[in-house]
Amino acid sequence: MCGIVGYVGQQDCVPILLKGLSALEYRGYDSAGVAVLENGKMAVRKEVGRLAALEEKIGRMPLSGVIGIGHTRWATHGEPSEVNSHPHLDSKNRIAVIHNGIIENFRELKAFLQGKGVSFRSETDTEVVSQLLSYYYEGDLLKTLFRVIPMLEGSYALGILCQDQPEHLYCVRNGSPLIIGRAKGEFYVASDISAILEYTRDVYILEDDDIADVTKEGIAFYRETGEQVERQTTQIAWSRDSAQKGGYDHFMLKEIFEQPRALRETLAHYVDLETLTIKREAMPFDREQANALEKLTVIACGTAHHAGMIGRVLIETLARVKTETDIASEYRYYDTIDQPGETLIAVSQSGETADTVAAVRKAKGHGSRVVALTNVIGSTIARESDMVMYTLAGPEIAVASTKAYTTQILLFEIIALDLANLRGLLTDEELRERLRELAALPEKAEQVLSHREEVADFAHSEKGCEDVFFIGRLMDYYTSLEAALKLKEVSYIHSEAYAAGELKHGPIALIDDTTLVVATLTQKRIVAKTISNVEEVRARKAKILLVASEPIPLNNPQDTVWRVPDTDDLFSPILMILYVQMFAYYMALQKGCDIDKPRNLAKSVTVE
Ligand code: G6P
Repeated sequence: MCGIVGYVGQQDCVPILLKGLSALEYRGYDSAGVAVLENGKMAVRKEVGRLAALEEKIGRMPLSGVIGIGHTRWATHGEPSEVNSHPHLDSKNRIAVIHNGIIENFRELKAFLQGKGVSFRSETDTEVVSQLLSYYYEGDLLKTLFRVIPMLEGSYALGILCQDQPEHLYCVRNGSPLIIGRAKGEFYVASDISAILEYTRDVYILEDDDIADVTKEGIAFYRETGEQVERQTTQIAWSRDSAQKGGYDHFMLKEIFEQPRALRETLAHYVDLETLTIKREAMPFDREQANALEKLTVIACGTAHHAGMIGRVLIETLARVKTETDIASEYRYYDTIDQPGETLIAVSQSGETADTVAAVRKAKGHGSRVVALTNVIGSTIARESDMVMYTLAGPEIAVASTKAYTTQILLFEIIALDLANLRGLLTDEELRERLRELAALPEKAEQVLSHREEVADFAHSEKGCEDVFFIGRLMDYYTSLEAALKLKEVSYIHSEAYAAGELKHGPIALIDDTTLVVATLTQKRIVAKTISNVEEVRARKAKILLVASEPIPLNNPQDTVWRVPDTDDLFSPILMILYVQMFAYYMALQKGCDIDKPRNLAKSVTVE
């Protein structure tokens, strides 16, 4: 969704802003703009559509300066148009504002200002901020912010420039992420770490209700009440190259192939691989808590929710703790039955998904303990949870989640094994055995990825395919849900997932010789049942692809078979999905889809 960048320093900020916006393109947007203080005057360029259109405009109408802000807008209030795109100026053209989030009381504020004779140019909620600041401005923008910010309701990250204070860039955060990177004599503002990794990994992560006054000499932090506060920088471990394509055509492909590394690094963070023991200090439960656990609730959205469903099976099977999963957007409004002292596990790659944040707040409001599984240090969910387990996947740029998903599942595997051991259901020796198997997963992942050409060829042979059904049972069903999501997200091919036993209750009516049915066969004890379902769709002339664990015997030579290296049945989802991620990628590639930024989707869904 929307992206924010800003720069204060000695260099010309325009190329820096454009590069930052390009790093944020993956979030999804429909217009872009920059505001720069050029020789003390506010200069603004905006354009609808891709960033290239803005760059082209700037090529025709150049601007430059050492302080500026930039924005990619994903329309919420008002259509994508030049006038609705950010930055938004006040009527006197002296204050420019960029904004992520939603000002919920903008109608009231707008009516108030209109009553005072202020006229508005756009349909956006954001314009009320620049107009309000202008209305109350008496020569000191910081003081004006102390007056105006408490009037805003909703969520916002703001970047603000004022022509009368040409050395200052003001940043405000409430509910929408905003960070400020520190380099020598320069500061880089962004809504997302990947936009500034190239320049610095030394960042201030703003807290809600923080106002930062940034000049090239330094930075001062205030609360919206006016009180000055100290903030420390956080070191981001992600490498500069991790947010680049590194020779791959798309981030999605790069991220698929990064999974063996991501799995290794995540595992090594939680497990001592020499002694094959779990690092106690990194885990969310001690023995007493583990034994007192009666119920866990897992909440998340999208792919993270699918990882949560796998997590449920792992925790229930290994640790015998009753576990519920829910979609965050449902959970937040559902009349849940809550007991104080329960534990909620929130799963979110970005740590910023609006519904998941709301669910965390609701759970905390009921007295639950919240454990976050997230990929982004300092994200809202990381900060608001009682305990955080990070996936060490590195920045995930492609909208379709790949390496975050498999590392989230890995965390659930570690949690489930640890709980089982603490609850006396797995001896230390059995735990070591399972951890040895987990430690073998990255290499097995490499084996799956080595089948890239075969998958690409199959995708080629399925070029015209319009309907794909993924079927499986138990763990294979949950993996199928993620498989169907992956395919539809990036290739726009209609795909559904069904618990194989449900086929007969409706979906089989849709199967004919134009349908591709992908059966997942990794759960050895139940696989014969799914194979029977495969025969049922074969009888309806569907084309069949089997993704099956190595030891499972299959004997129909006309089926395409992709073999998953043998592992513990409970650990196979991480391996199986790699095939489908590659399949989805190659289907999208041959259809010419915008793989890293699929239509209508956003990487980080920060509004409801
Ligand atoms: C969006 C993304 C998905 C992601 C979901 C949840 O829909 O496109 O890839 O799974 O949000 O995001 P989160 O950051 O909370 O994991």
